[in-house]
Amino acid sequence: MALQKTKFLQSIFTQRIRIPLNVISLRGKCEDKGPCTPKDPCSSKATCICPPSKPPSPSPCPPKPPCPCPCPPPKPPCCPPPPCPPKPPCGPPSPCPPKPPPCPPPPCPPKPPCCPPPKSPCCPPPPCPPKPPCCPPPPCPHKPRCPSPCPPKCPCDCPPKCCGPCCSPAIAGKVAVITGASQGIGYYCALAILKNGGKVMLGDVKVDEGKEAICKIIDEFGYNRAAFIKCDVTQAKDMECLLNAAICEFKQIDILINNAGILRDQYWDKTVDINVKGVIRGTLLGFQHMRRNRNGGTIINVASILGHEPCHGCPVYTATKHFVVGFSRSMGSDYYYCQTGVKVMTLCPGVTITAMVEDSDTAGQLEGFGDTGKELHRLLYSMPTQPGETCGMHIVPILEAGVNGSDWISEGCEVYRVRRVDRHTLKIC
Ligand SMILES: NC(=O)c1ccc[n+]([C@@H]2O[C@H](COP(=O)([O-])OP(=O)(O)OC[C@H]3O[C@@H](n4cnc5c(N)ncnc54)[C@H](O)[C@@H]3O)[C@@H](O)[C@H]2O)c1
Repeated sequence: MALQKTKFLQSIFTQRIRIPLNVISLRGKCEDKGPCTPKDPCSSKATCICPPSKPPSPSPCPPKPPCPCPCPPPKPPCCPPPPCPPKPPCGPPSPCPPKPPPCPPPPCPPKPPCCPPPKSPCCPPPPCPPKPPCCPPPPCPHKPRCPSPCPPKCPCDCPPKCCGPCCSPAIAGKVAVITGASQGIGYYCALAILKNGGKVMLGDVKVDEGKEAICKIIDEFGYNRAAFIKCDVTQAKDMECLLNAAICEFKQIDILINNAGILRDQYWDKTVDINVKGVIRGTLLGFQHMRRNRNGGTIINVASILGHEPCHGCPVYTATKHFVVGFSRSMGSDYYYCQTGVKVMTLCPGVTITAMVEDSDTAGQLEGFGDTGKELHRLLYSMPTQPGETCGMHIVPILEAGVNGSDWISEGCEVYRVRRVDRHTLKIC
């Protein structure tokens, strides 16, 4: 009985499920659609058909614009993942692969080329030869010379005060070369040497004055005592010719007096060429020639008292004479004397009446500073003066004293050696 009841209920449910969805109710109403009309009015069963649904009332909102974006393309259907590769069948671990054989050792670096086999068994190098003991410098080649016999006494016509002894052993038999010797101090030095038994080779740019000087010498001293050759001290060739001429004529050179000089400050370039370069050139050539002598020789460079003090009347000339003093003192060191036997000394004349001084009023023009010549002339004549002969004779005591590197002043008929103050100790040396 209970089973029948259940089946019955199931059939009812089944029927209800089979009812079309648009038939909602038996009460003659369609939900949300208003009253419905019976489909079949004669039917007992009041089934009704709902009217077709009304078009939806226009919504107050404006229809949405279609999406401007294109819809994404449909995704491709998912493919199934590829089948996994079959797993290798499990088994025992495979044995390690055999290790590669060890690398061969790198090749040896190439051996240095074979040295020649030692000739003798390896010995220590031979000991250095013993150094010579610190020895003193080689002995000076200069040897004192026996005084040559003096010729018979010559008449001495110098005033006694300025006259050296005639036939001085320091000069007799000697050959002197003198530059700028056609006139002035150079010529008077030649006379003094001739009076003391020597011979002279004269050089100058003034040829006429040179020839005249030789004539006077021949008259007084005879032939074969003197010769002249044109020589410009700014020309090395001329200087060499002068020295060679002395060798040719008299076979030797013992004394060289670098006397040529000018006092012309407006030609300062030429002044330096003659007063400075001429003295250097002459000194070096003199060393070359005289170092060959067995007995060495003497060089006297003519400077000035203006080599020891300033002078605004002729600053260029004054500077060149300072040069001569410094150069001669330097070359007059034992360093050179011990190698050559050649001494260097300086003669510094004071105001000596020659053409140079007499013409000084036109000589000292320094461009741009007015008439400096007149000022120079005034200055020179405000100092003690002496004749040219006197200055020439002063060469004798200087040659006789013969102190290498010494510096002599000949002024006012007096000659004296310059003493200096040592700048370190301020002691007179
Ligand atoms: N006279 C003085 O008061 C006095 C003072 C101090 C120094 N000095 C010096 O004495 C020396 C002789 O002077 P000085 O008074 O007899 O003068 P000076 O003019 O009478 O004689 C100088 C000689 O040198 C020559 N000379 C010039 N240029 C030459 C050159 N390039 N080459 C060769 N010879 C040249 C001249 O021709 C002249 O014969 C000069 O060095 C001078 O500076 C002279």
